[in-house]
Amino acid sequence: MLAVLLFGMSHALAASAEENYKWYCSQCHGLTGKGDGINATPDQPVNPKNHTDSAEMAKLSTSDVENVIRDGGAATSKSTMMPPWGKSMTEAEIKELVAYLSKLCNCKFKKE
Ligand code: HEC
Repeated sequence: MLAVLLFGMSHALAASAEENYKWYCSQCHGLTGKGDGINATPDQPVNPKNHTDSAEMAKLSTSDVENVIRDGGAATSKSTMMPPWGKSMTEAEIKELVAYLSKLCNCKFKKE
C-alpha cells in the first residue's frame, strides 16, 4: 500500500518526457510533434514548430531548445505563441524533454 502511494507521488512530481509532451505541448505541436495540434490553425502568423523536421530542428542548439522551453518564445525572439514552461516543469524535466525532442526530430542539435 505504501509502495503504491509513494509510486503515485513520485509520478506526480516527475512525469516522463513523453507524458509532459502530451500534456503541455501536443495541443499546439501535435501528439506526434508534427506541428498540427488542435490549437494550430493555418491562419496563425506563425505555426508551431514541426518537431519531426530534422533539418529545421538541427538548426537549434541544445541550449536554444532548453531556453525556448523554459522562457518561451518572447524571451528568445520567437513568437509569443510559444509559452514559457519554466514554472510548470523542473529543470530536469526540461532537459528530458529536450532529449525527447531530439528523438522526435531524429536529429542532433547543432553545436553551441
Ligand atoms: C500555445 C501553443 C504552443 C504550445 C502549447 C507549445 N508551443 Fe512550442 N511553439 C509554438 C509556436 C507558435 C512556435 C513557433 C515560434 C516561432 O517560430 O516564432 C513554437 C516553437 C517551439 C520550438 C522551436 C523554437 C525555435 O527556436 O525555433 C520548440 C523547441 C518548442 N516550441 C517546444 C515546445 C515544447 C517542448 C512545448 C511543451 C512543453 C511547447 N513547445 C508548447 C507554440 C506552442
